[in-house]
Amino acid sequence: MHALVTGGAGFIGSHLCDALASAGHTVTVLDDLSTGHLENLASCPHRFIRGDVSQFDDVLEAVRGVDCVFHLAAIASVPKTVADPRRSQAVNLGGTFNVLEACRAHGVKRVVLASSAAVYGMGTGKPEFESDLPAPASPYALEKLSSEYYLQIYASLYGLETVALRFFNVFGPRQDPSSPYSGVISLFCKHLSQKMPVTIYGDGEQSRDFVSVFDVVRALILASQLSDPKGTVCNVARGESVTINTLYRELAALYHCDLKPQYAPAREGDPRLSVASVEKAERVLGFKAALSLKEGLLRLVQG
Ligand code: NAD
Ligand code: UD1
Repeated sequence: MHALVTGGAGFIGSHLCDALASAGHTVTVLDDLSTGHLENLASCPHRFIRGDVSQFDDVLEAVRGVDCVFHLAAIASVPKTVADPRRSQAVNLGGTFNVLEACRAHGVKRVVLASSAAVYGMGTGKPEFESDLPAPASPYALEKLSSEYYLQIYASLYGLETVALRFFNVFGPRQDPSSPYSGVISLFCKHLSQKMPVTIYGDGEQSRDFVSVFDVVRALILASQLSDPKGTVCNVARGESVTINTLYRELAALYHCDLKPQYAPAREGDPRLSVASVEKAERVLGFKAALSLKEGLLRLVQG
């Protein structure tokens, strides 16, 4: 298969590229390097196009000769999209639309989208099912949900094979901690390794369903192989959640650090409780997360 990975120089995308290349697939990457890094692709033989998914011509060039697009390029931070909704609309929704149109123009068969648990909104503490009514609470969440709907419309109108995977909170090596908007585990690890206090937004009792990037890559590849997907939407998670306070305690113990966290006001649009139903992923995708949070954190900390 010839796969295009948009956002392939990023955290999740680069692990996907490695897995695709080692399974013998041809990989093209389209990335503007806004948060991704070329070094992430050092072990993946690939064709790299530096381009912007919000620019149709860049996407059109990238999809030529491709069988499947893994569309991961996005502004992945909820607070960044709250701060600049115009740009996030252009990238997160406009980018998806450009991918779909380019696929239609070049007869690409399949698109797998990196969607998000954020579409469920603030959460109730009960497992989120794909059939639940979405309740997006940020530009990011709305753009992911609208992207899913666009995929379904292109599946039914134009026969494109599409799968949207709602990743919950992904963690693992290469998650870049360089911005305050980075993923919480990467930031906590960076601060704890330097014996610096972390910041917890809100009371720290918000929860997340963390899943290892290695499991997420398996789910992406299963989605590219799913027979007759017809616009499928599926959670990708472990089905267990942890509060940010507990996460901090577990990581602090691994770093043998007894620094107290600093608390700051909760972020706007920040979901409160997040835990997935993993029933559909198991039934439809044949996916079950293999790594527990404890094992994943231990591997991450031990390098
Ligand atoms: P990341 O920031 O490491 O990766 C995103 C990549 O997209 C980067 O390489 C970046 O340079 C690139 N990119 C951004 N804007 C672009 C543009 N306009 N044109 C081309 N490339 C562009 O983030 P990630 O955590 O690897 O996220 C990958 C995808 O998974 C995103 O779509 C994100 O929304 C989604 N997702 C991530 C998580 C998570 O917990 N990390 C959870 C749910 C969904
Ligand atoms: C993350 C992803 C998003 C994805 C969503 C799915 C990133 C940057 N964001 O969003 O792409 O769609 O999961 O659920 O990967 N926090 C702190 N201190 C910090 C950083 C964060 O307390 O220093 C808190 C946040 O307020 C939040 C939680 O930790 O409550 C998780 O934050 P974050 O890692 O940024 O992820 P999400 O916003 O959940």
